[in-house]
Amino acid sequence: MLSRLFGYFGCDVAVDLGTANTLIGVVGEGIVLDEPSVVAIDRASGRILSGGCAVGHLARQMMGRAPESIDVVRPLAEGVVTDYRQCEAMLRYFLRKARRRVLAPRPRVLVTVPGRATPVEKRAVFNSTHRAGAGAVLAIDQALAAAIGAGLPVAEPVASMVCDVGGGTTEVAVFSMGDAVAARSVRAGGDAMDQAVVDYLLRHYSLRIGLAAAEALRIDLGSAHPLPQERAHEIRGIDRVGGLPRRATITSEEVRQALAEPLEAILDAVKSTLDGCGPELAADLVDQGIVLCGGVALLPGLDRYLAEQTGLPVRVAQSPQTTVVQGALVCLEHLDRWRPAVASSDEDVH
Ligand SMILES: Nc1ncnc2c1ncn2[C@@H]1O[C@H](COP(=O)(O)OP(=O)(O)OP(=O)(O)O)[C@@H](O)[C@H]1O
Ligand SMILES: [Mg+2]
Repeated sequence: MLSRLFGYFGCDVAVDLGTANTLIGVVGEGIVLDEPSVVAIDRASGRILSGGCAVGHLARQMMGRAPESIDVVRPLAEGVVTDYRQCEAMLRYFLRKARRRVLAPRPRVLVTVPGRATPVEKRAVFNSTHRAGAGAVLAIDQALAAAIGAGLPVAEPVASMVCDVGGGTTEVAVFSMGDAVAARSVRAGGDAMDQAVVDYLLRHYSLRIGLAAAEALRIDLGSAHPLPQERAHEIRGIDRVGGLPRRATITSEEVRQALAEPLEAILDAVKSTLDGCGPELAADLVDQGIVLCGGVALLPGLDRYLAEQTGLPVRVAQSPQTTVVQGALVCLEHLDRWRPAVASSDEDVH
């Protein structure tokens, strides 16, 4: 009876709890929320600003610009929850916003977790999601959700390879017959790239810029492979020695140089995942290739860089930033089929 009610109200919700962005999908409705994973709190009271509404887009605008009395926090780092209290508050706000029907029962929530997460970290995600208002919590591996969302034939006896490069983590996996054959989950992604840009400017220009400015510069000028037309931009920062604001002109070649190390970390994760595949599956990948997703898949030339370095075809998923939540939605819609890949909070989490 209860499950019939559940089905009737369509209260199944998929959450891609990302380091940079949280996406929520509702079965039967599609993606209903896509907001930065950011919360702004009043330091003295510990309360969320703007009457509990300084979450997501609103909080993101305050990053790097808030006075001392305000903490603008990202409750996740490198793919895992680092601030449980704020993660719970953020999820509660997002789930409420995503559920339009006031009378709907507490939803069943399928949340994605990176392959690297420890049992303790997975438990923390379950608990935060529960306390944030979920009736039941299920979890699925982020890379599997990505592969399903990209439409790869993961259940078939053929190799499917996915590489999800997000803000905090890069998830690489090869699937065959519904299971991961080889997988790597590394702390590399957009955040590490932004830090690399900050470090580069400090080293080569004695110029200090914030992480948000570094991200804007990386999105604007960044690339992983030479561009058909290299460009340059003027940026503003603070002189490390004099402490005064000044300008500098940075080229796209320089930004690419700054990204060399994080790009290599992504490539290493791809190569070592390939090393973990047997010869038959590796041979499949010569035809099937690698599908790239996550926000950093939009970095110009990342597909070409990985293709040249691995010798495999690489393509970017159709909508790389929504691939994971789309995959989680597919799992919820066909839970009977994907049940073995889904962990629930009342089962042991491995
Ligand atoms: N056009 C673009 N070019 C390059 N990078 C981009 C672009 N748009 C977004 N990004 C980057 O994508 C990253 C966010 O990607 P995504 O939303 O997939 O991460 P996430 O899922 O929140 O993080 P994770 O999966 O690592 O926990 C950010 O670092 C952002 O700078
Ligand atoms: Mg992600």
